[in-house]
Order: sequence, then C-alpha cells, then structure tokens
Amino acid sequence: MRVTINNIKGMKERGEKISMLTAYDYAFAKIIDEAGIPIILVGDSLGMVMLGYESTIPVTLEEMLHHTRAVVRGTKQALVVGDMPFMTYHTNTAEALHNAARFLQEGGAQAVKLEGGVRMADTIKKVVECGIPVMAHIGLTPQSIHQLGGFKVQGKTPESASRLLQDALAVEEAGAFAVVLESVPTPLARLVTEKLHIPTIGIGAGEWCDGQVQVVSDILGLFTDFVPRHAKQYTHLADIIKAAVGDYISEVQSGSFPTVKQSYTMDETIIEGLR
Ligand code: KIV
Repeated sequence: MRVTINNIKGMKERGEKISMLTAYDYAFAKIIDEAGIPIILVGDSLGMVMLGYESTIPVTLEEMLHHTRAVVRGTKQALVVGDMPFMTYHTNTAEALHNAARFLQEGGAQAVKLEGGVRMADTIKKVVECGIPVMAHIGLTPQSIHQLGGFKVQGKTPESASRLLQDALAVEEAGAFAVVLESVPTPLARLVTEKLHIPTIGIGAGEWCDGQVQVVSDILGLFTDFVPRHAKQYTHLADIIKAAVGDYISEVQSGSFPTVKQSYTMDETIIEGLR
C-alpha cells in the first residue's frame, strides 16, 4: 500500500520523524522505495544534479514529467511528489491547475510541490480544491535565486523571519499537506514547526522540523560539483563508481574480461561448417 498524505500528517501527530529523498529515475527510485522511504520527491534539482544545468530554472515541465513517470514505475510504497518547475504555476490559476493535473494524470505522481508562501496561497487553494495534494516550499526557493540574490539562508532579520512565518501560516491555511523549509535558521524552523499543524520538512533547517529532505545525489556522494553545507554524505558513490570503472577498463585492456562466465557457448561444429 502506498503512503498517503494522511499517513504523513499522522506521523507529525504521533511525533514520528518523516524522511524524504529525491529520485529522478527508475533504478534509484526502486532502491530507495525498497529501503522504506515514505516520500520521494522528483525534485527540479534534477536540472542541477542529473542534467548539468547551473540552477533549477531551465528545467521544463516535459523533463519533469518524463522523470516522474520513471520514478513512479520504480516505486510501490512511497508517496511520489512531482516538483512543478519554474513558471509552470505562476501565470494564472488555469495554467497552474492544468500543469499540476499533468503530474497526476501523465506522471503518475500522488502530489505536487510548488515554491512560494503568501503569494502562492490562492493557487495552492485552487489546486487542492481540485483534489491535487500540494506540498509547499518556502524559505530559500531556488526558482527565485536571482530575486533572492543567490543561495542564501532566509529569515535572519526580524522582517524576513516574520515574512517566513506568515508564508508558513498561509500555505497551511490554503490546504497544503506539508511544507518544505529550505535554508532557514534552526530557531525559526522550530517556531514554525510548533505553530503549524501540518508537517514541516527541513533542508538546512535544523533538527526541530517534523521531517528532513535531502537530494539523493548529495547524501550518496554522487554529485561532485559541490557539497551543500546542509548535506551529509553517507557514502561516496562517485569514488566507488570510479574505482569500479577503472577495474573494468584495466580488465578489458588486459583481456581478463570477459571470462567464460560472461560468455555464451554453442556447438562449435556449426562454426567449422561456416569456415
Ligand atoms: O528540487 C529539489 O530537490 C527540492 C528539494 C531540495 C526540497 O526542492
């Protein structure tokens, strides 16, 4: 049985911490799902860690749907959340509804995520009214990095802390089932978590959030361009992969790969007959 948004809300009520990871393809989604993660986000971080863009801004809806379908095919139990890319929910409500619906109808996701607090509350309300669960994302919202002046911690001044709290209250009021707090000082994330009835999922927001989300390539040491401060590398897959590929290259060069074990036999008289 797939995890539902009610299961996720119930976890907050019971004080059970919620873990969430990104995934972008079938193979990784299957492994992560089998490991028991309750929520998989097909994040638009796809653009940076899988497609090599400098930010999430160039990611298109078609790219997101393509990867969402692959992730959904790889999962049986996790709630799959599709991340709505830049400018696919801003222009007007009709467009936001249409594009959110595509994540469920064409992508097979069970929910969508979108960035923004107070300014997105009306949109969230309309999407939720159509039966599409929404996870909101406030604090550092990477689709607005040019407006924010870079990847900076949000909510450090009295004004911006108050704005962040208002954003959190607005998305809850609008009907979001959870909210991502990105790059928010720990005491502010704690206050928001105490004030909200819906779960807060932190990334760079400290230990008081109801849950944590990480980019899978960061925690597995697969993305080597930079390691964000908020990420912990649980392994170093890039090094492991390089070593394995190095062994393969050496064995091909030396002729020790393939062996009989990796080869197919046949009746040799057929070959003789062809000579
Ligand atoms: O795109 C993404 O991976 C995200 C998470 C970092 C929350 O939005």
